[in-house]
Amino acid sequence: MGKVRTNSGVLVVLDHGGRIPLHRQIEASIRDSIRAGRLPRGSSLPPSRVLAADLGVSRGVVVEAYQQLAAEGYLASRAGGYTQVAAGPSPVTAGLRLARKIPPRIDLSYGRADVSSFPRDAWLRAIRGALSSAPNDVFGYLAGSGVPQLRTAIAGYLNRVRGTLAHPGQIVICTGYAQGIALLVGVLAAAGAKRLALEDPSSGDDALPAARAAGLEVTGIPVDGDGIRVDLLAESGADAVVLTPSHQWPTGSVLSAPNRAAVLGWAAERGAVIIEDDYDAEYRYDKTPVGALQGLAPDRVVYAGSASKTLAPGLRLGWFVLPGQLAEPMAEAKIAADRGSPALEQLALADLITRGEFDRHLRRMRPVYRRRRDALLAALNRRLPWLAPAGVSAGLHVVTWLPPHLDEAAVVEAAARAGVGIEGVTPYRISHPGPGGLIFGYATVSEQAIAEGVNILARVIGEL
Ligand SMILES: Cc1ncc(COP(=O)(O)O)c(C=O)c1O
Repeated sequence: MGKVRTNSGVLVVLDHGGRIPLHRQIEASIRDSIRAGRLPRGSSLPPSRVLAADLGVSRGVVVEAYQQLAAEGYLASRAGGYTQVAAGPSPVTAGLRLARKIPPRIDLSYGRADVSSFPRDAWLRAIRGALSSAPNDVFGYLAGSGVPQLRTAIAGYLNRVRGTLAHPGQIVICTGYAQGIALLVGVLAAAGAKRLALEDPSSGDDALPAARAAGLEVTGIPVDGDGIRVDLLAESGADAVVLTPSHQWPTGSVLSAPNRAAVLGWAAERGAVIIEDDYDAEYRYDKTPVGALQGLAPDRVVYAGSASKTLAPGLRLGWFVLPGQLAEPMAEAKIAADRGSPALEQLALADLITRGEFDRHLRRMRPVYRRRRDALLAALNRRLPWLAPAGVSAGLHVVTWLPPHLDEAAVVEAAARAGVGIEGVTPYRISHPGPGGLIFGYATVSEQAIAEGVNILARVIGEL
């Protein structure tokens, strides 16, 4: 008796020495798989010749089984000569049912890049170029830090545009900022860090759970119009802090010059690490950009960047520039996590940066986002003039603080019911309460829809 499993795309268990004819066994095996949802409707079966060869039976045996299943309605022959499953559960019901959230009619939430403007042609050329010119080694396992071409391109770009002091050897490419910060927090914990400070409020969804999982205490440090309160940071006993110095998320404040000096002084004195999340540094509308902190203290500051706000979050590409002693452990953590990010995408991004396409895309997008920001500010000024917007000169979102008599959650809920998606600040607070506020992401919404969204918001606030 021999049990045979095939490797031609469908699992069939056969007992060659048994009393049940082989074609009946094949029928039963495939029928069971269809009923159990292992072979969902629409999936293709291997050609009879291939399955027969794999099972070590004559082709006629498989043809007979397929014919019987077709007669029962389980299988159907399709144009092109292949056989498909025609009955049973569809792939969605057979497996994970993906929750479909209905998007709001006008989505002013958060502040994401407008992916409808993704430079598809440039990316296609870059991917094609990478695929045709990459050596075979690129398709093997690579170093955890990422492909050298991208690390070189990123170092050149950051040094030129953000004033960093980055060397390709210090860079680790990650699956976005989200993965990088999680790995880094683990590396810091392994190196003896006990407490991580986060700006309060901040987008702690990535750092916070990772820090807790790594056994670090997390402490929120309030921010004001000059960025993080460095006096409170100094009292916190933190070993590392995550900052968004060039445009605090979500309040939009810029870390003031005295605070920049103070935070660097704190890190040097305490031997602490500053993690600089430079998430939307490319968008500066009215003021000269502030250089990255990393350029002032490359031995104390980890610089984190991402393609999510410049190109698209779906690329899942981020980069961390690390002080010498952290670069190797971070690359090892990346290897341990997933053996490195996909090489072709890294090569394509390297090509995009090197050929100036990345800069060109940003030059094209800046005025688009600026016009949308202006449309938002004009609409707020017209319809809700008492909501003073903050953090307007940079980025892809604006914050407005709410007066005490307006409940943030009630405004967010009423706006959602009226078809406008908007987020409040409170869910991003860590440990310090503060006034309610609204985060207006304007980057993905047309100027007309922004005006309409603000009109609706003004109406629902008026009704509250
Ligand atoms: C504050 C902040 N940092 C970083 C990022 C980038 O994250 P990722 O690269 O994981 O998409 C975002 C994206 O929304 C963000 O809001």
